[in-house]
Amino acid sequence: MIVVPGPASVGLGGRIAAQLSATAVPVDHRTFPDGESYIRLNSDVKGEDVAIVQTTAPDPDRKLMQLLLMAAAATDAGARSVIAVVPYLAYSRQDRRFLSGEALSLDTVVRLLEAAGVSELVVVDVHNEPFLRTIEARHRVRVRNVSAIPLLAEHLKGEGYGGALSLSPDQGAIHHAEASARVLGGPSSFFEKSRDRKTGEVTMKAKDLDISGKRAVVFDDIISSGGTMALAVAALKTQGAERVAAACTHALFIGGAEEKIRKAGADRILSSDTVETPFSDVTVAGLIAAELRKL
Ligand code: R5P
Repeated sequence: MIVVPGPASVGLGGRIAAQLSATAVPVDHRTFPDGESYIRLNSDVKGEDVAIVQTTAPDPDRKLMQLLLMAAAATDAGARSVIAVVPYLAYSRQDRRFLSGEALSLDTVVRLLEAAGVSELVVVDVHNEPFLRTIEARHRVRVRNVSAIPLLAEHLKGEGYGGALSLSPDQGAIHHAEASARVLGGPSSFFEKSRDRKTGEVTMKAKDLDISGKRAVVFDDIISSGGTMALAVAALKTQGAERVAAACTHALFIGGAEEKIRKAGADRILSSDTVETPFSDVTVAGLIAAELRKL
């Protein structure tokens, strides 16, 4: 297998190639003055299984376009198969039509990948796996979704969070809290969260938890503006938590997310390297390499 670390995942792509002892093929890329992307694969991929590693944040539209160009270039060059490894899959939160007339964005992304010749898609902690499966059923692309939550929990265990309460920001994500609790050994629970589909305003109600003097970790798939995480952390601190860690797989950290979460009282912020940030102390390279070995 040949690994192509895309412009958005040079570090992670290199780590995956190293785990697989595979050749890493560099990519030439630039942006034209008018904003268009240029891509050139720097090696012959004819007859090869090609895994393109390209996350899609920040700047999701550009990263997605680069991914499509790399996939199409590999297909046109006669690759035997093209696998898209997209650690953070942009548009995965628009997996349903919440209002009539809305674009079903995730479906469009999968359709575009298929048109570029992708047969397998590997993602990490996709926002809602059941909805992704519904979309997958309409296409030929097969999707593999792996989770970084146990790795994040393991890391926090090493930092003294063993036995801590694991929480998810809403009931729909309770599987993340449960996965963490299996590693940390403490209980799991969730917050009651609702979002106004028109204004986007989020309200969160902490459940009646006995957290006083205890440690807690809030796990989310994505931290974007930091609003959800800040509300959760503040609620725990108000209830007397001794130490609170904010953990996520995909650290998008738009605007003042870090400051918001720190102000809310977080003692630790941790993420994986699906999107590389100063908080990416956990790598998903081994997880993805293991998945690629199965192909
Ligand atoms: C939404 O349902 C996701 O799981 C996250 O909770 C959300 O994307 C976080 O967004 P923000 O950081 O802007 O509150």
